[in-house]
Amino acid sequence: MSSRLFCSVLSIVATIAGGCLFLAVPGQPALGQTIASEATTPEAAVVKVCAGCHGMQLVMDTPRDYDAWHDTVQKMIDRGARGTPEEFDLVMDYLFQNMTPIDVNHADAETLMAVLHTSKTGADAIVARRTSRSFKDLAELEGSIQGLDKTMLDAKKQMIFFQ
Ligand code: HEC
Repeated sequence: MSSRLFCSVLSIVATIAGGCLFLAVPGQPALGQTIASEATTPEAAVVKVCAGCHGMQLVMDTPRDYDAWHDTVQKMIDRGARGTPEEFDLVMDYLFQNMTPIDVNHADAETLMAVLHTSKTGADAIVARRTSRSFKDLAELEGSIQGLDKTMLDAKKQMIFFQ
């Protein structure tokens, strides 16, 4: 059985289990509406998938790098965290956008893409530019690379380093 299929089966089980729990709460909408309430933004997904057991504070207290977040989320799945594959993608987006420190002058292209939410072209442009001259600060990065999401970068500026 392929791992993709295995994931789908797991998420169907999780959806059914979640739906049953939901139905057990008096006055809640029917199953159809439960499915419609699948989280569709990174913020909503992280609250839905991650805040149930220990609240968001524990997630917000411990910034960590890209690989470490992968390991942490896998650990939480082993502990019982449940969501659809799409929701887990959004959770990873949230963690990379908000809770992953990055050194723009040294991170590899894959990490730049994930954490700065830029395309391959954007990441390559950063690598090309820093090869001749390091970036000095966020303003310089935003000023010299096209297509960056400035609102998102400004919101996580305490996680963006230029070493
Ligand atoms: C089914 C319950 C459950 C869910 C859902 C859950 N966690 Fe946890 N989490 C735990 C438990 C139990 C601990 C404490 C044990 C430990 O420290 O490893 C913990 C600890 C943590 C810690 C601190 C310990 C460490 O490894 O650094 C972080 C960070 C964390 N969780 C992040 C997350 C994220 C991100 C999600 C969503 C993907 C999530 N958790 C969802 C049960 C859960």
